[in-house]
Amino acid sequence: MHKDIKEIMFTESELRGLVDSVAERINADYGDEEIIAVVVLKGSLIFSADLIRKLNMNVRVDFMQASSYGAGTESSGTIKIKKDIENDVRGKNVLIIEDIIDSGRTLSLLKQEMKNRGAASVKIATLLSKPSRHVVKVETEYIGAEIPDEFVVGYGLDLAEKYRNLPYIGVLKPEVYA
Ligand code: PRP
Repeated sequence: MHKDIKEIMFTESELRGLVDSVAERINADYGDEEIIAVVVLKGSLIFSADLIRKLNMNVRVDFMQASSYGAGTESSGTIKIKKDIENDVRGKNVLIIEDIIDSGRTLSLLKQEMKNRGAASVKIATLLSKPSRHVVKVETEYIGAEIPDEFVVGYGLDLAEKYRNLPYIGVLKPEVYA
């Protein structure tokens, strides 16, 4: 285990289980309907790579990046679209893929944005959600797991760009970000 990690929250094998359960629900709901998977960079990189290869329908993959956190552990409250998708979503089924919902601000903005652009449907798949931190309510169709308010990293999640490459999700030692 990495020296900055206090404990492991999800092992690699538990993460595979979460991915499988989310993928199963998505496959059951969409059947053969094509989707545009909007991968929200950078945190959902690894989750989306694992999730997308478990999906059975035609999947167009596109990327978006929003910014909220800067280098700290608290959301700044202001969200900007830093990188936009290339697909025209009009009349298409959009599935936004995220790693974690914290305040809900990022997904609230991105979901509304996709609706404004005329998507036929907009759903969200997130690996993790922290209900106690939600400030904005955003309907989330697929959630891997709800977690308590602890600072987690790994499997794509970072603190100031570190730890994304850990294969598990772990709780950071508080002294690391104090
Ligand atoms: C994180 C995470 C979500 C967002 C969740 O991204 O990946 O996109 O914050 O927070 P919210 O619910 O409070 O909006 P971050 O901005 O840290 O960028 P990253 O994915 O590149 O790490």
